[in-house]
Amino acid sequence: MTGAINRQWCVARQPDAGGLTSSGSLKLTADVFGRGQADVPEPGPGQVLIRAVWFSPDPMNHAWVRGIPGKFDPIPVGSPMRGGVAGRIVASNHPDWQVGDGVTGFLEWQDYTLSDGTDCLGVPLQRVPAGVPLESGLATLGMTGLCAWLGMTDIGKPKPGDTVLVSGASGAIGSIAGQIARLAGARVIGIARGPAKCDLVRSLGFDAVIDALSGDLAALIAQEAPNGVDVFFDNVGGPQLDAALLNLAHGARIVICGATAHYNGPTPVTNHLMLAMRGASMSGFFYFDHVARWPEGRRRLADWLRNGLIREALDISEGFDSVPDAALAQFEGRSAGRKLVRIAEDPCAQSA
Ligand SMILES: NC(=O)c1ccc[n+]([C@@H]2O[C@H](COP(=O)([O-])OP(=O)(O)OC[C@H]3O[C@@H](n4cnc5c(N)ncnc54)[C@H](OP(=O)(O)O)[C@@H]3O)[C@@H](O)[C@H]2O)c1
Repeated sequence: MTGAINRQWCVARQPDAGGLTSSGSLKLTADVFGRGQADVPEPGPGQVLIRAVWFSPDPMNHAWVRGIPGKFDPIPVGSPMRGGVAGRIVASNHPDWQVGDGVTGFLEWQDYTLSDGTDCLGVPLQRVPAGVPLESGLATLGMTGLCAWLGMTDIGKPKPGDTVLVSGASGAIGSIAGQIARLAGARVIGIARGPAKCDLVRSLGFDAVIDALSGDLAALIAQEAPNGVDVFFDNVGGPQLDAALLNLAHGARIVICGATAHYNGPTPVTNHLMLAMRGASMSGFFYFDHVARWPEGRRRLADWLRNGLIREALDISEGFDSVPDAALAQFEGRSAGRKLVRIAEDPCAQSA
């Protein structure tokens, strides 16, 4: 790799305010992203060199940059950003990895990364299975698909005949969560904002879609779910959670996956007494607390993907330079489906 340049996206400065436990905005700004450069490293004994091909900007980027108390420390200023990466092994001194293998993990955002077989969190690198495109390793088989599977399968537990409501249904996680509920035999209603995102949700096979911008959301949900909602998979929080709370069936389960409506500051939720009135439960989950469940989830998701039972909605930005805008697009509701950035050509495209 003599002469090759290892481009990096680094943390240029810590965001001013905001964080999971503060009242400020969670949104990152463009000046938090700074360019860096390093030499391409040579793998030592037991190491592999990964050529990154795809980055997955994700709402979790704010968590990586700011840190989450008790979970991750903030990334130090000047160090490479972290996030989902899919790439190819281009040199290996590791017995489990061969040149050409497709791999994903939470890695530093640079062209080339050394690994001892684990990622930034010490979790083993994930192999992209044969017959699955590299980018699907980040989408359906990555955090996105696994959050959808964990939340829907372990908490929502939809049964045939249930009515399932998904907020953020045009987003990375929501778009897959709804499809998983349909595979379980439920009738699935998605919530999205605007006609284009509603069309995307419809194209993924949801039974009904509600445009959150088209009227009184609680009334629109009541029209689509006259017998109430058995499972609400929530990515948005705020007014969408409040509207869903007014439409729960008895014994309903609410799955708290995320809260995109809170990106710009706290948004009140006032109808929680409906949990008591409907004997309902509300539980959240954090992806990184469920590492032991990932292999089973990946197997299920890979089977569904290979058999065409899950459709991926990818929103692709091209080029290394587009990384900050792609990351910010998520916080501004400008992305639809799984946002990915192709930073380089796949060196083994023909064997993918
Ligand atoms: N629990 C976990 O372990 C875990 C792990 C990863 C991510 N998450 C969280 O899960 C949530 C969904 O993640 P994702 O990857 O699916 O995100 P995403 O692709 O950005 O989708 C989120 C959707 O939320 C909707 N939205 C509603 N209000 C919004 C607002 N004010 N700003 C931006 N978007 C808004 C957008 O759709 P419309 O424009 O159609 O409304 C958007 O498509 C996020 O809150 C994320 O932080 C949780």
